[in-house]
Amino acid sequence: MQILVTGGTGYIGSHTVVELQNQGYDVVIVDNLSNSQIEVLDNIEKITGIRPAFEQFDLSERDKTDAFFKKYNNISAIIHFAAFKAVGESVQKSLEYYRNNLVSLMNLLEGMKKYSVPHMVFSSSCTVYGQPDVLPVTEETPRKEAESPYGNTKAICEDIMRDYCKSNEDINCIALRYFNPIGAHETALIGELPVGVPNNLVPFITQTAAGLREELSIFGDNYNTEDGTAVRDYINVVDLAKAHVVAIDRMLKEKQKANYEYFNVGTGEGYSVMQLVKAFIEVNKVDLKYKVVGRRSGDIEKIWADTTYGNKELGWKAEKTIEETLSSAWKWEKKVRGL
Ligand code: UFG
Repeated sequence: MQILVTGGTGYIGSHTVVELQNQGYDVVIVDNLSNSQIEVLDNIEKITGIRPAFEQFDLSERDKTDAFFKKYNNISAIIHFAAFKAVGESVQKSLEYYRNNLVSLMNLLEGMKKYSVPHMVFSSSCTVYGQPDVLPVTEETPRKEAESPYGNTKAICEDIMRDYCKSNEDINCIALRYFNPIGAHETALIGELPVGVPNNLVPFITQTAAGLREELSIFGDNYNTEDGTAVRDYINVVDLAKAHVVAIDRMLKEKQKANYEYFNVGTGEGYSVMQLVKAFIEVNKVDLKYKVVGRRSGDIEKIWADTTYGNKELGWKAEKTIEETLSSAWKWEKKVRGL
């Protein structure tokens, strides 16, 4: 059974390709390589022994997307990762974000209809909840207005799928609302490779520990949390990848309760920035220089998932400990830097 993975050479995409192949799925990747490297294919092949098919083009190009569906006429389902994802950059380049993230989804939905591909799993984000009034967040928690154009693209993409599914009974979509994905594959053959200075916490930590950055800045210690630093639900990327495989299985086995569904994908546990930093130092026995600075604008104070509904419906649960995850992140960074 062939699955199209868009953005399959990226961070979460590559881990998902591996898990799909482990479950016997045949994978074709579409990626424009705007934020990933072609060598990822070699490393996927090293892990699974199978090289996925690959097509390089931009899914916001309608003709090319149509031609792709014509050529690959045996696709059973799509996992759509390909999107721009930098929160800060999206403020400066809002049109690019809207065009890329919305148009590529619409082109895929159009192709699904025209070429009878019934199922899609979509990368959404807990960003759609903003700063929730009640924690943890369930799927019933109301969405809030997005804090950034990036976050807004996720909310609008969810709405596009909801509306399209409403009028097209033959189309099924599942949006997975990720919390904070971190870590890398245990082989250290694939992981996160941010371009330039990392925005996200864990890549900044690992690069600082590796000597690429002078010091980690902890953004704010006066939040209303136990130690004053912000709290997130950090999910291991391999656990997250497996959630995509079960979502695909759910659709292929026709277990969906409605043709548009959405689930939280987190661990259900919140860690503060300070807790995470200290755990990283302890688990990996490394020095890490850090200092507390002012808050980062646009950051929310705390969020973590209630995973009850997703665990029950998908039959999936995050399994890796935070220690395993932080150790995998460090192993990956060392491998990349040749340490
Ligand atoms: N942080 C630091 N120092 C850093 C980087 C981050 O203290 O150098 C802090 C942040 O202030 C935040 C926490 O670490 O409190 C996590 O920050 P990340 O940037 O790793 O993750 P965010 O929670 O800000 O962002 C993530 C995803 C986005 C998504 C957002 C939704 O990266 O895609 O969650 O809330 F939109």
